[in-house]
Amino acid sequence: MSQQRLKIEVAKAAVGFVEDGMTLGLGTGSTVNAFIDQLAAAGKRLDGVVSSSDETTRRLKKIGARVVDLNHTGDLELYIDGADEVDTHKRLIKGGGGAMTREKIVAGASRQFICIVDESKCVPVLGVFPLPVEVMPMARALVGRKLIGLGGQPELRDGFTTDNGNLILDVRNLDLVDPRAMEDRINRIPGVVSNGLFAHRAADRVLVASEQGVEER
Ligand code: 5RP
Repeated sequence: MSQQRLKIEVAKAAVGFVEDGMTLGLGTGSTVNAFIDQLAAAGKRLDGVVSSSDETTRRLKKIGARVVDLNHTGDLELYIDGADEVDTHKRLIKGGGGAMTREKIVAGASRQFICIVDESKCVPVLGVFPLPVEVMPMARALVGRKLIGLGGQPELRDGFTTDNGNLILDVRNLDLVDPRAMEDRINRIPGVVSNGLFAHRAADRVLVASEQGVEER
């Protein structure tokens, strides 16, 4: 089965958790795009959707969904998003699409976070995927030096600006054996907006698609 087919299968399974009348939080990326398609195909009648990126908003509007402002919703029942890596404790690396700051905000406002991935994203220990760090442009060099001080090898994501007008440093080689500690350490660097570790707000459920079908891990 192709990776795209696996994304469609896990997206279909996630639609099963969505109830009519819900206000849903939604992430960003190709798996989320598959989920939006499946949501439309299932004819779910949502009250509204809080989006985590301009791209997700654009796709939601295309299927006629009502995109709402998080400031007007209160806590959300459910947040659905993909990930770049998932460990056995449901902790994640996100931000391959550069949307992790808004994703973290919407996930933080949600009572349940269902993460949808294909099996290639499951790892025993986080850190093969370079960790995305969103930085304010004037702090790029400072944050880079501090990340080197933490043992990482940061690289500026070329030609990329986030929806918030900031830059992304993709960081290799960080020791992520204790992801909560590293999430905190990086957040304390002045100029860091957020980083792609979802260790404090890990997923509540992870749905994984493989050749054998979709299972919760
Ligand atoms: C975007 C993300 C995505 O969830 C992550 O990059 C996975 O994307 P995809 O579903 O395309 O593999 O964190 O910021």
